[in-house]
Amino acid sequence: MLSEENVLKALSNVDDPDLKKDLVTLGMIKNLKINGKQVFFQVQLTTPACPMKDFIRNACVTAIKHLVDSTAEVNIEMTAEVTNGKSLVENNHQIKNMIAVASGKGGVGKSTVAANLALSLSKAGAKVGLLDADIYGPSMPTMFGLNDETPEMTTIDGKEKILPLEKYGLKLMSIGFLIQTGQAVVWRGPMISAALRQLLNDVLWGDLDYLIIDMPPGTGDIHLTLCQNFPLTAALLVTTPQKVALDDAQKGAAMFRIPAINIPLLGVVENMSWFTPLEFPDLKYFIFGSGGGQKLADEFEIELLAQLPLSTSVSEGADAGTPAVIGGNKPMEEAFKFMAETVAQKLAILNAAK
Ligand SMILES: Nc1ncnc2c1ncn2[C@@H]1O[C@H](COP(=O)(O)OP(=O)(O)OP(=O)(O)O)[C@@H](O)[C@H]1O
Ligand SMILES: [Mg+2]
Repeated sequence: MLSEENVLKALSNVDDPDLKKDLVTLGMIKNLKINGKQVFFQVQLTTPACPMKDFIRNACVTAIKHLVDSTAEVNIEMTAEVTNGKSLVENNHQIKNMIAVASGKGGVGKSTVAANLALSLSKAGAKVGLLDADIYGPSMPTMFGLNDETPEMTTIDGKEKILPLEKYGLKLMSIGFLIQTGQAVVWRGPMISAALRQLLNDVLWGDLDYLIIDMPPGTGDIHLTLCQNFPLTAALLVTTPQKVALDDAQKGAAMFRIPAINIPLLGVVENMSWFTPLEFPDLKYFIFGSGGGQKLADEFEIELLAQLPLSTSVSEGADAGTPAVIGGNKPMEEAFKFMAETVAQKLAILNAAK
């Protein structure tokens, strides 16, 4: 018989494949109502970018039809409440997850991955900010076509605050928005640290599910300031497929494992893994070799989360202020979507383990 009790009993046979517990125990079933043959409820996922969304929905329908009533009409609304570990509370707002996108080496695609990860998560329905922590060489103003924009200021409780710029649904902040284009940053360590702290503490980010942080290359003052003063949820490593580039990548990764820092490594994203000509979509040319991402992942006992192809649309889009996910290149958009879902999934698992 269709009753709330029987439906919940049936749903307690459906496991969240990532968290490995059933949906009822996890408290993910909300607002269950029954009206004749109609069953309504919400499944509250841990991220709107959940790659298991359809799988979980289908498993719920199957469980109710098999175990309770095969003629039931099951209406499920998939919602999400992003989970967090240690979160940053600032200006009465909460940043649930801060993710550093890092690599020991320059030019491997950190900024590209950070921007398109942020955009893909936002497209899935999450509240997302993107912080350009590359104080020496900010790239966000150009990547988002915001070279001529200056953030507005406001005063809260007698303190001056900066409003982030907004574009394509993201909240954005970069030192490049606060200094004139072309003006070189020649500050020393302490000033750099102060500038970075301001970009986090004095910017009105509002409530965010994810703040993606585009790191500079290497392992310098900016890394230490960020890791030691802010509750980073995890770091994502970007690398290219060449094995010769691994040395720097390893140093970049090892920094997060130093006991005084100890930030979880979420996994590796390999960028520019292969080139596929538009007219031959099944061909892959491994221009920069292969295996680098997997090797780095193996060394640190983490996962290779995604491989991103090389596409001229990525670099052209970055120069034109339209990141790849916005630019209309479907295969690239799909690759970034898959990457973002995998990252969101790993984060949810990490947060559940805390
Ligand atoms: N998958 C890709 N396909 C084509 N071009 C790419 C791809 N990824 C990045 N690029 C281009 O490669 C260059 C370097 O990328 P990006 O600026 O993202 O690297 P980075 O690691 O942030 O560099 P830096 O260390 O200087 O901050 C840019 O011109 C970017 O547009
Ligand atoms: Mg960069």
